[in-house]
Amino acid sequence: DRMPELLRTMPKAELHMHIEGSLEPELIFALAQRNGVSIPYASVEELRSAYAFTNLQSFLDIYYAGASVLLTEQDFYDMAWAYLQRAAADHVLRTEMFFDPQTHTERGVSMQTVVQGLHRACVDAKAQLGVDAALILCFLRHLSEESAFETLEQALPFRDLFIGVGLDSSEVGHPPEKFARVFARCRELGLHLVAHAGEEGPPAYVWSALDVLKVERIDHGVQSIKDAALMKRLAADRIPLTVCPLSNLKLCVFPDLAQHNLGQLLDAGLVATVNSDDPAYFGGYVNENFTQTFAATGLSAQHAWQLARNSFEGSFASADARRVWL
Ligand code: HPA
Ligand code: ZN
Repeated sequence: DRMPELLRTMPKAELHMHIEGSLEPELIFALAQRNGVSIPYASVEELRSAYAFTNLQSFLDIYYAGASVLLTEQDFYDMAWAYLQRAAADHVLRTEMFFDPQTHTERGVSMQTVVQGLHRACVDAKAQLGVDAALILCFLRHLSEESAFETLEQALPFRDLFIGVGLDSSEVGHPPEKFARVFARCRELGLHLVAHAGEEGPPAYVWSALDVLKVERIDHGVQSIKDAALMKRLAADRIPLTVCPLSNLKLCVFPDLAQHNLGQLLDAGLVATVNSDDPAYFGGYVNENFTQTFAATGLSAQHAWQLARNSFEGSFASADARRVWL
């Protein structure tokens, strides 16, 4: 079976990964020690054994606890550099990394500390690994739109260090339209727009992400399959879906990988991509997502080629870079 080798070595872009979700238990413990932060787990093994999730919220509680060890610019650099080395090993040529500033500014860490540390890792990735890395600032949707506006204000001095904004955290009960005004402002600022929608939430949230927020990509979007008119819209407008199969498995969005709908999305002509979401928590980086999903669902080499192509088409890389890749 040559499929795993094809999947591992094919050039690809990663469009949906939360940098705080790349924090491995070993690094959480090392940073906790370096910073004198106490965490409610005795060992790496004990922490890892707490990674048994039943839904999105059960994951988010542990994910935010893990991020509490990040204090200095060097911490953010070290976290991003560790991920970027894994990305390079997985033949990722381009990665667009989400970060959650409110998780840090609410603990008294400055926006500058967060952004500068992550940005320095992106610069080094290009020079030392040949990986083209960019940042997307995400607003936490369980917080208010006012808090999102404050976060945007704090980020504006670093406007050139991120390419767009997204919307993440607890989906159900926090529809996209809650953030209509702040996304309109980001659009005026020329930022790229994306949002998580249709992970656990209904197709209606995908519609409002498109029509109210005017996003260019949908993160997850797997629930769109329940709405035939929405599927037509996504295909006609070539709206990329950044699908995360191992995340969906670990958060019980699908009962097993064999029942994942990635193949159906591709066969319906959607610009679906494969991504790792929170690789340290969900059991694998992007290549692991490819190999496990293909093994479970029997997707073809044609699907693999389409996914790689979709990842570059869906990226916000420069026209010059996309011309080379596509
Ligand atoms: N969904 C919503 N919020 C998140 C996720 C996710 O998959 N990962 C990190 N924050
Ligand atoms: Zn996500």
